[in-house]
Amino acid sequence: MTQAQKRSTWASRWTFILATAGSAIGLGNIWKFPYMTGVNGGSAFVLVFLGCILLIGIPLMMCEIMLGRRAQKNPADGMRWLADKAGASPHWKWVGLTGVIAGVLILAFYSVIGGWVIRYILHALNNSFTGADAGLVGQLFNDMLASAPSLLLWHTVFTVMTVWVVARGVNHGLERASQILMPSLFGILLFILAYSVLEGNFGQAMQFMFTPDFSRITPGAALAAMGHAFFSLSLGMGVVMVYGSYLQRHVSIARTSLYIAIADTAVGLLAGLTIFSLVFANQLEPTAGPGLIFQTLPIAFGQMWGGQVVGSLFFLLVAFAAWTSSISLIEPAVAWLTERKYCSRRTGAWLTGFSAWLLGICVVLSFNHWSDVRLLFDLGIFDTLDKLTTNILLPLGGLMMAIFAGWVMRPDHVQDELGLKTVAFRAWRFIIRYVSPIAIVMIFLSLLGLIRV
Ligand code: PHE
Repeated sequence: MTQAQKRSTWASRWTFILATAGSAIGLGNIWKFPYMTGVNGGSAFVLVFLGCILLIGIPLMMCEIMLGRRAQKNPADGMRWLADKAGASPHWKWVGLTGVIAGVLILAFYSVIGGWVIRYILHALNNSFTGADAGLVGQLFNDMLASAPSLLLWHTVFTVMTVWVVARGVNHGLERASQILMPSLFGILLFILAYSVLEGNFGQAMQFMFTPDFSRITPGAALAAMGHAFFSLSLGMGVVMVYGSYLQRHVSIARTSLYIAIADTAVGLLAGLTIFSLVFANQLEPTAGPGLIFQTLPIAFGQMWGGQVVGSLFFLLVAFAAWTSSISLIEPAVAWLTERKYCSRRTGAWLTGFSAWLLGICVVLSFNHWSDVRLLFDLGIFDTLDKLTTNILLPLGGLMMAIFAGWVMRPDHVQDELGLKTVAFRAWRFIIRYVSPIAIVMIFLSLLGLIRV
């Protein structure tokens, strides 16, 4: 049997798009994008974010899928194999291995927030929000954070859900889950959006998110926006690469990348508009931070007619979205462990999930007993993991992949895999050789204070 025959593949182009969009669309769009937009001054952040999606995100998504499908291997062995073919150093495998580690670091906090979401489905079902004002909803949120056992319980539930799907494998686990969850997600989001257009302050939300104010683009906000473009599209850590390695040869990489990026960006923007419409209509604060959707939306759900149903559906939607993302986070690690024959898929999934779960306990404690612990850049445990992965590891991984595809691999191999005509290929290659790497490096440097943007 050849390598290609042994590996699982997606049943069709659509299942690949669904699964990759399922990975991309998650807490990043619905929980993180709105609060980051709120914290970083609204439209300025949105503008840089959109620029990063266009100039860095889409070309890099094509690049990552291309690398994965060319190599037909997990990210670590894949990079090594591709480097070998190009006569380059075997150390390129570290790009893949860093991704394996980044996935575990992200899952550690991702599953804690996923746990909050599950807790809030129950709150909504129990009618806990009815008639609640800002004080009560804030209390509910703070009570949840203060209770380590409760956070631990929901963190555990979310991690087990994640591992369970991954252990079932590409076709039975990942594919089936995305097929059911993704369409439901779109349906529920559209419904809540319609509600907020009718009942919320949609005009002010539009203004907040889309009136450009360039003066508010600080180096910090630019880095946050770039990091978030990576986080939101699941780029720079091998997730898209490993999903791409299960993709059949005849599928157009450019077109699928575009679909995925558009779907991901659209969900983020729509979630932002939905949330800010409700935030402004209820005189709430856009700058609430990571608690934004938990501390503000329940007030709206508590006041609106049918809020129990809408609130439950909303948090259910977020949980679905988070689930299809979290399963992708450990796929690079699991593919690596199983393809190296270190263990079975089931054991690999449990082992990786368990490592993330252990680290997640520190994240749980960082919201209560260990809230004073300071790590990198004087940040708490949760913030350290978030910033380290989102703002450093993912952009760095993306930068290395761009350099690899643009400068190390043979152009004819790249063009063959991408299946692009000459003009389109030249344009893509120019972006991946110069534009994306320079943009990433400039944003890094601007933060170090070396240059001013
Ligand atoms: N893209 C996911 C989200 O927006 C998070 C993620 C990041 C998933 C990196 C995989 C890899 O929630």
